[in-house]
Amino acid sequence: MVVGEITTEVDVLVIGAGPAGYLAAIRSAQRGKDVMLVDENQNLGGVCLNDGCIPSKALIHAANTFHDAANSTGYGLSADPEMDHSTLQDWKNDIIEKLTTGVETLEKKYGVTVIKGDAYLQSASHARITGSADAEAVEFEHCILATGSSPVDIPGIEVDGETVISSSHALSIDEPPERFIIIGGGYIGMELGMVHQKFGSQVTVIEAADRILPANPAELVKPVERNAEDLGMELVTGAMADSVEVEHGVATVTVDTGDGTETFDAEKVLIAVGRQPNTADYGLENTDVELDKNGFVQVDEQRQSTDPSIYAIGDVAGQPMLAHKGYQDGAVAAEAIAGEHAAADFVVPAVVYTDPEIATVGMNEEEAEAAGFDVLTGRFSFAASGRAATMDRDDGFIKVVADRESNALLGVQMVGPHVSELTGEATLAIEMGALLDDIAMTVHAHPTLSEAFKEACEDALGQAIHKYNPQD
Ligand code: NAI
Repeated sequence: MVVGEITTEVDVLVIGAGPAGYLAAIRSAQRGKDVMLVDENQNLGGVCLNDGCIPSKALIHAANTFHDAANSTGYGLSADPEMDHSTLQDWKNDIIEKLTTGVETLEKKYGVTVIKGDAYLQSASHARITGSADAEAVEFEHCILATGSSPVDIPGIEVDGETVISSSHALSIDEPPERFIIIGGGYIGMELGMVHQKFGSQVTVIEAADRILPANPAELVKPVERNAEDLGMELVTGAMADSVEVEHGVATVTVDTGDGTETFDAEKVLIAVGRQPNTADYGLENTDVELDKNGFVQVDEQRQSTDPSIYAIGDVAGQPMLAHKGYQDGAVAAEAIAGEHAAADFVVPAVVYTDPEIATVGMNEEEAEAAGFDVLTGRFSFAASGRAATMDRDDGFIKVVADRESNALLGVQMVGPHVSELTGEATLAIEMGALLDDIAMTVHAHPTLSEAFKEACEDALGQAIHKYNPQD
């Protein structure tokens, strides 16, 4: 392969090096393809590693540790911790550096050509790359679009990066504001809202829907709502943010509450009202790629677009916009291009890293009923879990949803401490078609939080042990 002034030929051109793209590049290389991975950023890893999942989880860990240190007097710990935010930022940036350079090293070990530049499709077989000294023109057999998503704007509200900020800026604050308004009580708003409340800001969340985290079942959101209020957060729901005026470093947010308008003041305002797929500026108009009605690239089960040589994966290819869905999309597309039988037919777990965490896998009760199942449910509360008690936590529960006729597990909904870590077992169980009985008969280590999953399945079968199931 010759790189430089003349056209480079590759089997697979991957545009975008977030989780979806970087995995697709590695999987394609594992299948013996000649691969080029192009990203406009100097760091590989996309939003997830640089501006999303990883830095936010680092801050969540720090905020929880800080908060717990000052609030664990129940077992004799008294402390008056101090948070040095500039050291925290250095620590977070070191994690990003370690992971992004790790990805780049891996790509190179697999023989992937990594180019830092902007790729623009001139046709369904040619791309031009700008901003890089290493490649100018590429001829490809297949292209995988993994261009990700960007924050949605509120018309008329300008993000200045100082007073009015996006989630990327919110991950790099080294001086917490006294008052912090968050517009949007979804994933980002509630995760980062709790972080900043724990770090000492007075956080107000403005949410248009009638409750926070409206995409999650109400019963899972209740314990989060309760804890947010206990922490002192102000949750303003049924309230649509209309405009923001900034004067002398103070923002005034005007909110439409349905009955009129209200205003809220703060030193910082975070806009977190959703994300949209990145499809502009890649030359898609020079190909037969079509977008669906929501603006995502239209793809089939192999993640092939309406242009046969072009595939699309991750956020740009549809909901849910989650890194792990992107990973799996990347594997499917790379394997399909390699001629294997691969299809995007998988269960995608979702986690909201609030305190307590929310995790969902498969169908909830309403969805299972709508799908025509005669639904059987079981539930186990962490208040009855020995492990939760030893962690000084008793909030939350696990609910399982099953088909009454076959006992097959259809879904698991959880809220509680570290429930993110229980999604692996729940997802595997659903993927493998497990029955409630399979989980009930599986020995779960004691004491662990995972016992609550077994007990919820046993509850559905009327045979839970640490919960009274009347026998009649
Ligand atoms: P989101 O869709 O989760 O929440 C946005 C919220 O903003 C909605 O509840 C909506 O009702 C509200 N809203 C919209 N316009 C508004 C207005 N003018 N005034 C008041 N409220 C308004 O979007 P978010 O939090 O920006 O996250 C984007 C995506 O990123 C998520 O949907 C998810 O796919 C991904 N993500 C995933 C995480 C995880 O897996 N733990 C963490 C963070 C983000």
